[in-house]
Amino acid sequence: MSSITEIAENVFRISTFISDGNIQMNQFLIKDDEPLLWHTGQKYLFNEVRAAIAKIIYPGNIRWIGFSHFESDECGSLNEWLNTAPQSEAFCSFVGANVNMNDFAVRRVRGFHNDEIIKTGKYSFRFISTPHLPHGWDSGLLFEETLRTLFCSDLFHQPGNPTAITGSDIIESVKNNLVESESGPFNSYMPYTTNTEMQLNHLAELKPNTLAVMHGSSFTGDCEKSLLDLAYVMKNVLG
Ligand SMILES: [Fe+2]
Ligand SMILES: [Fe+2]
Repeated sequence: MSSITEIAENVFRISTFISDGNIQMNQFLIKDDEPLLWHTGQKYLFNEVRAAIAKIIYPGNIRWIGFSHFESDECGSLNEWLNTAPQSEAFCSFVGANVNMNDFAVRRVRGFHNDEIIKTGKYSFRFISTPHLPHGWDSGLLFEETLRTLFCSDLFHQPGNPTAITGSDIIESVKNNLVESESGPFNSYMPYTTNTEMQLNHLAELKPNTLAVMHGSSFTGDCEKSLLDLAYVMKNVLG
C-alpha cells in the first residue's frame, strides 16, 4: 500500500516500496487551486497511487501532470491519468514533448523551455531544463518558488525504504548507492557530462528549502550544500 506524507505545506509524497527492487517509487501531489502531480508512477502502480491521491483530493480534479523524463516510473501511467482527469494537461521539456510524448500520450503534451512558469494558485513552479541530468536528453526538473521545493527526480536516489523526510545528511547513502549501482546490471545510471557540475551549481543557487526525492527520503535543511555535495560525489564517482 502507498503511504502519504505531507513533506512541505500542501506537498504530499505518495510512496510505494517495491521490495523486489529495494526501491521506493515516490510521486508528489501539490494541493492548490489547480492541483499538480509530479511523476505518475508506473502503470502497475496506477490503482494504488490513485487510491492514495483520493485521500487528499478528488483525482479527477488534477489540473497539471508533470515529469522529468520519459521513463516508466516518471510517466508510465500518464494516459491513465489523462483519462482520469479530463481537464488535465501534461507537461515536460520541449524535447520530451516533441520527441516522445506527443506520440505516446492520448492528447497533446505541453513542452516547456527553461525557466517557463506555471501558476497553480498560490504556488508558482519554474521548469528547469537539465538535459542528461539525472539522465536522458529530455530531462528537466521543477522548482516551486514560494516554499522553495526542488523536485529532484532521480537525483539523491537512496535505496531501501527510508523515512519520508529527514533533516539528516543523505549524501552518504546517495554516494554508496551510486557506487554500488555502477558495479551491477544497472550501471551507467547517470551520465557525467561537461554540463553536470554547472547544472548542479545552478540548482544549488536556487537555495531550496526542501528536496523532493523520487527514490528515498526527501530532505529539508541546507539544500544548497546538499546539491554542491552531490556535484562533488558525481564528479568523483562518475566523472
Ligand atoms: Fe529516471
Ligand atoms: Fe526514477
